[in-house]
Amino acid sequence: MANYSAQTDRRNVLQKLAIGGTIVASGTLAFTGRLLEEAYATGHTRNPYSRPFVVPPLASATRNGNRLHFALDIRQGSTRFYEGIDTPTLGVNGDYLGPVLRARKGDRVSFTVNSHLRQDATLHWHGLKLPARMDGGPHQVIRPGTSWSPEFKLIQPAASYWYHAHTHQLTGFQVYHGLAGMFIVDDEVSDSLGLPDEYGVDDLPVVIQDRAFNRDGSFRYVSSMHDRMRGMLGDTILVNGVVTPTLSAKRSLLRLRLLNGSNARIYNLEFSDQRPFTMIAGDGGFLPRPAVLESLRLAPGERAEVLLDLSDGKEVVLRSQPTGSAGMPGMMSMMMGGGNERLGIMRIVPPSGKDHNKIDLARMHVDLPDWSDKPIMQRRKLTLDMLMGPRMMMGRVAGTPPFSINGQALDMDVINFSVRKSSFEIWELGNNSVLAHPFHIHNTQFRVLARSDRPIPPHESGLKDTVIIDPGERVRLLVPFPDYADEQNPYMYHCHILEHEDGGMMGQFTVKA
Ligand code: C2O
Ligand code: CU
Ligand code: CU
Repeated sequence: MANYSAQTDRRNVLQKLAIGGTIVASGTLAFTGRLLEEAYATGHTRNPYSRPFVVPPLASATRNGNRLHFALDIRQGSTRFYEGIDTPTLGVNGDYLGPVLRARKGDRVSFTVNSHLRQDATLHWHGLKLPARMDGGPHQVIRPGTSWSPEFKLIQPAASYWYHAHTHQLTGFQVYHGLAGMFIVDDEVSDSLGLPDEYGVDDLPVVIQDRAFNRDGSFRYVSSMHDRMRGMLGDTILVNGVVTPTLSAKRSLLRLRLLNGSNARIYNLEFSDQRPFTMIAGDGGFLPRPAVLESLRLAPGERAEVLLDLSDGKEVVLRSQPTGSAGMPGMMSMMMGGGNERLGIMRIVPPSGKDHNKIDLARMHVDLPDWSDKPIMQRRKLTLDMLMGPRMMMGRVAGTPPFSINGQALDMDVINFSVRKSSFEIWELGNNSVLAHPFHIHNTQFRVLARSDRPIPPHESGLKDTVIIDPGERVRLLVPFPDYADEQNPYMYHCHILEHEDGGMMGQFTVKA
C-alpha cells in the first residue's frame, strides 16, 4: 500500500510536468480564480444552457476502395469551457476530444497516430474486434514524439463505438483531459432501417462527461483518496466538450448517439418531462426490438442510440436523476457523497416548423446471431472488489490489493488466462464491494444472460461490451471469441471506472488459435 501511494504521487508529478505548461503567478491565479467563480455562477445558476450544442467534426479520411486511412494527432491544447478561462487539455486533431471516425463494416481501416505528448500515450478502439497488436491497450505504447500505425478489417455490425487513451496507469488522467472520441460504423442494416441519418442534423453524437475545475482554470483530477476510490466525479457536465449546451433541433425526430465518456459517473438519464424515448441500439449494435424507456442507466463506456420525438413542440432537458438507494445502501451513498445527484445535461429546443419524419418502429426488427446451440468451452467466475474503510485497513495488513479481480491486481507481466479462438464462454461476474462497477471486455461483443437469476432488461438485450455489476449482484455473460488469435499479445478486461482500472481492477487474456 505504501508502494501504491508513492507510485501514485510520482505519477501525479509526472502528469503535472507533462501537461501543466501553465505555471501562473499567484496574482494571476487569484484573478483567474475569481473569473472562474463568476463563470461558474453564471454557468450553473443564472443561465445553465447558454452555450450552443457543438457537433463534433467528422474525421477526414482517404478512401481507396474499401481501404480507409485516418491521420490522427494526439496533442496538448487549451480549451475555453468558460469565458476568458483557458483550461489545459488533451485532444486528437484538436484541443479537446477527437473527431468522429466513421467507416463501414467490411472496410480495412488504417491509422497513423502521432503523439506530440511528453508522456506515453495509447489509443484504444473500444468495442471493436481486432488483432491484439492493433487494440491500442496498455501494451501498444506510443512514446513521446513517435507514431503508431494500426490496421484491421472492420468485421462487426453498425453501432456507435468509441476510442480513447488506455495508457498504463494514465488512462484516467488522459481521458479526463480529452483523449476520446466516437467511432461510428455503418452497414447495410443501418442503411436500410430508415432511421434519421443526416449527420449533425438529426443524427447526433452526444458525448457526456463530468468535470471539476481548479481555481486556476485547470481541470481538477484526483486530488484525494476519495477521488481515487469513488472514481473521479465532477460538478460540471460537458456534452461534446461544451458545458451544458442547448441543442436547437432542426428535425422533430432526433437520433442521439449517447456515449458515457465520463471517468466514473453512472448517469440515470431521463427527459425533464419524463417523456418516453426509444432506444434502438446499444454498445455493439441494434437491439433485436426497439425498447421504449422513460429512463436509462448508462455507465462509463456504455453507449445507447435513442430516438427522441419532439413533434409536440415542447422543449426538454436531458438530465440525470438520482437513483435513490438502487445499487448503493443509503448510509454508504451518504458516506461516499456525490455521484448520485440531479444534474442537467443539455437543453433541446424543438424546430419551429412542423416536420413529421415519423418512422415505423413497430416494424423494426434486427436479427442477432443465434448462439443457442453453441457449446460452452469454459465457465469463469470473476469477482470485482475494492477495499474501503475498515476493509482497506485490514487489506493493508494482509497485503490485499485495494482494487482487484479475483483477489489480484493487474500485473502487466501476467496473463491471467487464455481463451480458445472460436469458442464461447460463460463469464459469471460478481461484485464484493459497495460500489457498482461497469465491466468491459476487449475484442468481443457479448450477450447478458442473467442478472442474479432475473431476466435481463430490454435495453440490455443486444450485443454489449460493457455491463454494470451492482454490489452483491451476479451477472452472467455469454462471451464469444470468434475472430482473432494471438498467443503473445493480450487483451484486457477491466472495470471502466478509469480510476479503478488504473488502480489495478483489470486483467488480461490471450486468444489461442
Ligand atoms: Cu474503453 Cu479497455 O477500454
Ligand atoms: Cu475497450
Ligand atoms: Cu470499478
